[in-house]
Amino acid sequence: MVSGNNGSNSASLIPRHVAIIMDGNGRWAKSRGLQRAEGHAEGARAVREAVETATRVGVKYLTLYAFSVANWARPRLEVEALMRLLVEFARQERADLRQNGIRVNVIGALEDLPTSTRHAVEDLMAYTAEGERMTLTLALSYGGRQDIVEAARSLAVRARAGLVLPEEIDETFFHREMTTHSLPDVDLLIRTGGETRVSDFLLFESAYAELVFLPIMWPDFKPETLTTAIAEYGHKERRFGKTSEQVQMPQSAFDPLDRVG
Ligand code: FPP
Repeated sequence: MVSGNNGSNSASLIPRHVAIIMDGNGRWAKSRGLQRAEGHAEGARAVREAVETATRVGVKYLTLYAFSVANWARPRLEVEALMRLLVEFARQERADLRQNGIRVNVIGALEDLPTSTRHAVEDLMAYTAEGERMTLTLALSYGGRQDIVEAARSLAVRARAGLVLPEEIDETFFHREMTTHSLPDVDLLIRTGGETRVSDFLLFESAYAELVFLPIMWPDFKPETLTTAIAEYGHKERRFGKTSEQVQMPQSAFDPLDRVG
């Protein structure tokens, strides 16, 4: 599952999987005397640009936190506005997404969404299913803990039925049970809006992700914001628990105890 820049592979300077917590729509709107929903609408415009930029620079997986399980607790009108925006996005972007080889995927509980939103998103997924250039994943009614717990429950049920042996369950096996099963580990996790927390996003998949927290509000996210974050990522040494010397040296040449022979 591990991918990305491990310091010994110059081909991985572009993160394979970028995930974004798109925070700050509400504050962006409030600071302009607008309704929160207008901030989300402007946020949808920033989504289009981020998708275009990620595709252009060669990111293979872009995952966006569009609606968390916790977001259901927001005022009803705001939830409805977000659901409508998703429908608009699906209808307006489908042709461009398909033309650009972008496949749309969903993590979370799509079945929890209102029927019209669910249908629009399902249609978008079917329409773009052949895309091979980049996978755009929308996290919808998504919770990282929920995804882990449901995977554990499903494995427990199968183990009780004798279909899975406890000793078979390793990280890869476990990941296959999650709604993120088709995604590689996150290489670069970006959060806008000035907060420095991960808010239940991709908890399992971001174990070794580089984290970038930006003070700007999501509607102010520009193509160069993404390219700068990616350039900084390219300078990081990803060690995956190893020492710097280990990741600098080809595996065969490294002796952890510095023994000769
Ligand atoms: C967090 O900002 C943002 C969200 C809960 C929704 C994100 C949705 C979009 C960017 C637009 C629709 C998405 C797509 C894919 C078309 P916030 O409202 O919590 O901001 P605040 O912290 O300033 O209040």
